[in-house]
Amino acid sequence: MITQTTENMTSPDQVMDRIVTELGAGLGVVMTALGVRCGLWRALAGAGPLTTAEVAARTGLIEPYVREWLRAQAAAGYLVHHGGLSGADTFSLPQAVEVAMLQAPGGAIVDACAHMFASMGRGFADFEKAFRTGTGFGWHQRDPEYWAGTDAFTRINLSQDLLAAAIGELDGVPGALAAGGHVADIGCGYGAPTRMIAAAFPAAAVTGFDYHDRSVAAARAAAGDGRGGVRFEVAAATDFPGAGYALVTFVDSLHDLGDPVGALTHARDALAPGGAVLLVEPPGGDDVVDNLNPAGRMFYSVSTLVCTPNALSQADPATAAPLGTLAGVRRLREVATAAGFRTVRRLAVEAPMNLLLELRP
Ligand SMILES: C[S@@+](CC[C@H](N)C(=O)[O-])C[C@H]1O[C@@H](n2cnc3c(N)ncnc32)[C@H](O)[C@@H]1O
Repeated sequence: MITQTTENMTSPDQVMDRIVTELGAGLGVVMTALGVRCGLWRALAGAGPLTTAEVAARTGLIEPYVREWLRAQAAAGYLVHHGGLSGADTFSLPQAVEVAMLQAPGGAIVDACAHMFASMGRGFADFEKAFRTGTGFGWHQRDPEYWAGTDAFTRINLSQDLLAAAIGELDGVPGALAAGGHVADIGCGYGAPTRMIAAAFPAAAVTGFDYHDRSVAAARAAAGDGRGGVRFEVAAATDFPGAGYALVTFVDSLHDLGDPVGALTHARDALAPGGAVLLVEPPGGDDVVDNLNPAGRMFYSVSTLVCTPNALSQADPATAAPLGTLAGVRRLREVATAAGFRTVRRLAVEAPMNLLLELRP
């Protein structure tokens, strides 16, 4: 496990070095995403050393832009720089970088995050106000680039196989779904997980609910309006309609809610006998110290800028108790217990960026 490190920051000069690294890394998200969108990584893959003119020719891009991009990526360590005589430089893509960027989802994840970060940057003034007033900043106050970026991230980070395996572990639920049981997916966003569940259990009646009408409209459009046994409705987590659900899911949404106990209580009341709740949450450790690593830094930052502001926008700032994005199993168990669930079980199925829990009344 990568743990917190302050050992390289014992002098102001070392801290300044770190700050310069950070500035380059922040811009690196944009640069790497540009490489994805413009086909630069693809053009370098398996090609061996190429000059800037050759990369420009392969991509149809403008050479001065390509040249500066290649140099920046070589400085980042993603490319190997060969030569050094001005004008004769060549650049090559190491195999490990090629695999991570183009075969594993590295490049696509950075691209999805670049959309979200661009949107966050536009909200800077609003975040500052929210920090000062505690009023929060709701999901609906963001912009389509953020919502679509989240959807892209979800489609990379989750799979139908993962959700099917998780549901497969919920005793009695797969059988109920095969017999036409109902599923409610709460905080469905653009609906990718909802559609994955519907595809994995074609006999089930699956409905995605979200308080945000524009996300629901996008989910409906992506699903082709009611085809494939999946529907989408506008409803908040604490009052979504229906009863007798074989399964209620919260995919990356519980920690966004202003009233997670109220939402889980409502979900419990909506379950059929033998039904279960599936929680999919980011992979937080129980103690803060467990999360003081690069992944924890990313999730705590998203928590600060997105999830906690949304939760605060739905609660009285004086009494709100937002979960935070990395709540961890212990805290999630407390919340579920407060909502009347007696069984909280971590599922055997694992995914690097997800924690999966079964809740039973
Ligand atoms: C991080 S996104 C996850 C979306 C989707 N489940 C996915 O995995 O792509 C959180 C979602 O929760 C929704 N949400 C926030 N507060 C809500 C509430 N009180 N009731 C219902 N949905 C809510 C947001 O609109 C957003 O679509």
